[in-house]
Amino acid sequence: MSGPILLASNRGPVSFTLSDDGSLTMRRGGGGLVSGLSEVSRDFDLLWICAALSDGDRGAVRLAPGGRLDHAGFDTGAVRMLDIPPATFHRAYNTVANSTLWFVHHLLYDTPNRPQFDARFRRDWESYQAYNEAFATALGEEAPHEARVMVQDYHLSLVPAMLRGERPDLRVAHFSHTPWAPPEYFSLLPDDLRVELLEGILGADRAGFLTARWAGAFMDCCETVLGARVDRAHRTVTHGGRTTRIGVHPLGVDGEALWARASEPDVESHMAALRDQVGDRRLIVRIDRTELSKNIVRGLSAYREFLAAHPEWHGRVVHLAFAYPSRHDLPEYREYTAAVQRCAQEIEDEYATEDWSPLILNVNDDYPRSLAAYRLADVMLVNPIRDGMNLVAKEGPLLSPGSALILSREAGAAAELGENALLVNPFDISATAAAIHRSLIMPEADRVRRGARLSAAATALPPRRWFTDQLSALG
Ligand code: G6P
Repeated sequence: MSGPILLASNRGPVSFTLSDDGSLTMRRGGGGLVSGLSEVSRDFDLLWICAALSDGDRGAVRLAPGGRLDHAGFDTGAVRMLDIPPATFHRAYNTVANSTLWFVHHLLYDTPNRPQFDARFRRDWESYQAYNEAFATALGEEAPHEARVMVQDYHLSLVPAMLRGERPDLRVAHFSHTPWAPPEYFSLLPDDLRVELLEGILGADRAGFLTARWAGAFMDCCETVLGARVDRAHRTVTHGGRTTRIGVHPLGVDGEALWARASEPDVESHMAALRDQVGDRRLIVRIDRTELSKNIVRGLSAYREFLAAHPEWHGRVVHLAFAYPSRHDLPEYREYTAAVQRCAQEIEDEYATEDWSPLILNVNDDYPRSLAAYRLADVMLVNPIRDGMNLVAKEGPLLSPGSALILSREAGAAAELGENALLVNPFDISATAAAIHRSLIMPEADRVRRGARLSAAATALPPRRWFTDQLSALG
């Protein structure tokens, strides 16, 4: 596919850390969005615009003329990092994007207390506007005539409309990697913000979502809030004289690349170490960021209820829970990490014996060790409250073909993996405990049959295909 493509996302493909001696070290940026997009970016003539997230990033931007980074060693295409003033960035990213929009789309509010939209929030909202404006300006400066621009996620909801105002020649797509809230919940947001957010995304030629459910919720919001004309059969929204096409693009995994990585010696040695630690006991594995929407505490409570109901499994099963730190600038996330640790300790105190630890909780991020856990899993537990897609639900069955998958019906992945997984209501701890038991006693032939279907569904739309489909749809 020819022609330059611009990609805009908050987090970029690289990040920098500043050492005490003032030197900068570059590493690959983390997270699902970044790894999916990094994988495709090398195939295209691409400029990736992202925000400087740390002092290290800001240091790197100051050394690079125009914020264009030398990225030798990373095959991610050209990168321009925006040095947005730290206070503006903090309010836009932590307060508006992560504590408001993320909460709305994942239905995370404890409503007697939050949200509260007051004068302080209005100031934060202005920062979100300024941060979006910085992206729109940079994209407008960099984009050649009629270039295609792919704007990613809830951080940048206002960019498409801003860009349309400045550069109507561009072809703009917006993609939401999160769920989309139903209108009643979306309406927690102040009226003018609801309109601004929806009209922001509708500034794009195409608005993409991971599942038909999230696309449907977006269309419902456009109809309810804006009075837009929605054609559900053809997936279009017409508002203010313009029509935006709505796309559904589920993201899957690149099976070959994942297997290649998971067969490397560092993974094999982690497998050996884990095997030493747990012996031949059955393994229930979960791998998450310590993220409120991932529902880790209810998952641990379900395991605890399973142990209480099934003493015959004591000593014969181990739960490996990898919960990696995330968004620790936010107090809710720090508290949540502590709650996960407390719950794990209680299970250990209640059930551990001299030669059996029922639960191994690990909070230090280690990718090769995660891959080793996938490969050894008998059961994968993926029980988010709500999730745009959830790639763990796809990577797990692929790397451990005979394992069973317990999956929240509220994860986007459930739409494709369906009944081949054991679907659970993520709030129902007892049902999740029962699913743990069912998965352990499931006959092998059944597990293998389901596993083969899960793997096939997981690899149906690898990142490259996901990206090129969106590009071709943009025209
Ligand atoms: C996950 C979500 C994305 C989101 C990203 C941001 O990957 O699926 O929707 O953009 O997290 O994470 P961050 O760590 O950058 O806040």
